[in-house]
Amino acid sequence: MAVKALKGFKDIVPGEVETWQFIEATARDILHRFGCSEIKVPILEKTKLFKRSIGETTDIVEKEMYTFSDRNGSSLTMRPEGTAPVLRAYIENGLHAAKPIQKLYTIGPMFRHERPQKGRLRQFHQISVEVLGTDLPRVDAELMAMAALILQELGLSASLEINSLGCPSCRPDFNKALLDFIGTIDDLCDDCLRRRQTNPLRVLDCKSANCQAHYRNAPSILDHLCPACADHFSAVKKGLDLLAVPYAVNPFMVRGLDYYTRTTFELLTTDLGAQSTVGAGGRYDGLVAQLGGPAVPGIGFAMGMERLALLLEEQGDGLPEPELDLFIAAIGPPAQDEAFRMSHALRSLGLSVAMDHQDRSLKNQMKQAGRAQARFTLILGDAELEKGEAILRNMASHDQIAVALGGELSAWSLALADKLFD
Ligand code: HAM
Repeated sequence: MAVKALKGFKDIVPGEVETWQFIEATARDILHRFGCSEIKVPILEKTKLFKRSIGETTDIVEKEMYTFSDRNGSSLTMRPEGTAPVLRAYIENGLHAAKPIQKLYTIGPMFRHERPQKGRLRQFHQISVEVLGTDLPRVDAELMAMAALILQELGLSASLEINSLGCPSCRPDFNKALLDFIGTIDDLCDDCLRRRQTNPLRVLDCKSANCQAHYRNAPSILDHLCPACADHFSAVKKGLDLLAVPYAVNPFMVRGLDYYTRTTFELLTTDLGAQSTVGAGGRYDGLVAQLGGPAVPGIGFAMGMERLALLLEEQGDGLPEPELDLFIAAIGPPAQDEAFRMSHALRSLGLSVAMDHQDRSLKNQMKQAGRAQARFTLILGDAELEKGEAILRNMASHDQIAVALGGELSAWSLALADKLFD
C-alpha cells in the first residue's frame, strides 16, 4: 500500500500553492513597508525553551508539543510557535546590541498535536512578527494596524478584539478577584477545577458552555489594571483611533500562551464556519529577560496561513492564472532541436517559455499553448527552417507575423523578446 502523509500534515500542491505565494508576497511587501526584517530560525529547539516561555501549564506545553529525545538523549521539540525561537535567536546573536528596536518576522511551519479539523492542522504555517525594544503604546497600535492592513490587502475582512492582561504588579490582584469569584461556582468542569490551581486566568478560555455562562459575570481584568497599565491601554486605543482601525474591547480575552502582559489582540472571522482566529498576538514585556536576555519589552503577533488560504479560496475570486510568455510549437526533430536551444536562451533572458518534448502534432501543441495561457506561440517546422522564417502568433488577437530565423542565438532571442513586449 502507498505510504500516506501523516494525519494533520498537508501537501500544498500546484493550484493551491499560488494562493500561498500571494499571501506570502503580500505580507512580505507590507512587513517591509513597516521596516521589518526577515529572520530564519530552526524548526527544532531545546524543549526547555518552550516550557520556559509558553508556560508549563498551557495546553500547548502540556499536551500538544512534538517532543522527543534525540540520539544523544537531549529533549527536543518541534517549534509549536515562532516567538520563543525568534527571541532565543535575538538574544543569542546579540541583535539587541545591533539596533535598539528590532522588528523581526519569520514565515514557516509550526507543529502542534491538536485534533485536526478545517483550518486546524498539526503542521501549520505562521507569518510571525516580533517588535523588540520598545513598549510605546503607539507601537502596539501600529502593529495591529499592520496586521489589519495585511488582511485588507489580501482582500479579507476580520474583526479586531483587544484586551490588556496587565503586568506582574496588577495581575496578582486580578487573579485573587478571579479566584474569589470562581470559589462561588459549584459546578465547574474538571479542566477549570485544575486550572484554578495552576493557571487561573486560563479558566476564562474554557470551551464548556456551562462554565462560559458563569464567566459572563466574572470580574473584568480591565477594572484591576494598575495606573501604568490602564494609561498604556488608553494610549493603545487612542493610537488605533488615530489610525482609524476599528476594534472592540473584549475584557474576557485570554490567550493560550503564558508570556503575555498588557496588550493582547485577536483577529477573528466568522467566514470559516465557527468563529475562528486568523491572527493573534500581544505584548510580552518580561519574556526576553526570562529567557536570559536583556530587560527589553516586546510585542508581536502571528497569522495562520492555512486559515488565510481557506478564506481566500472560499471567497472564490480566484487568483490571476500565471501567464506564459511564449510557447514554442516545433514540428520534427531539427525544429525541436532549434526550439530546445531557443527556449533556454529566452528563459535566460527572463521570459517564461514552454515547449513540447513529445513530438506531438501541431494541433495538439496549439492546444497545450492555449491551456498554458501563452501570450504568444512561435511555430516552426521543416518548411520554416528552410525558409528561414518562423511564425509568431499573438494568442489573444490571433495576429500572425513572420520572424526571421538564423544569426547568433543570443541576439535573435533579444530581438524576439523585444517583439513580445512591444
Ligand atoms: P497563537 O494564538 O497560538 O499565537 O497562534 C497564532 C495563529 O496561528 C492563530 O490565530 C491561528 O491563525 C494560527 N494557528 C494556531 N494553531 C493552529 C493550528 N493548529 N492550525 C492552523 N493554524 C493555527 C502564537 O503562536 C504566538 N506566537 C503569536 C505571537 C507572536 N504573539 C506574540 N508574538
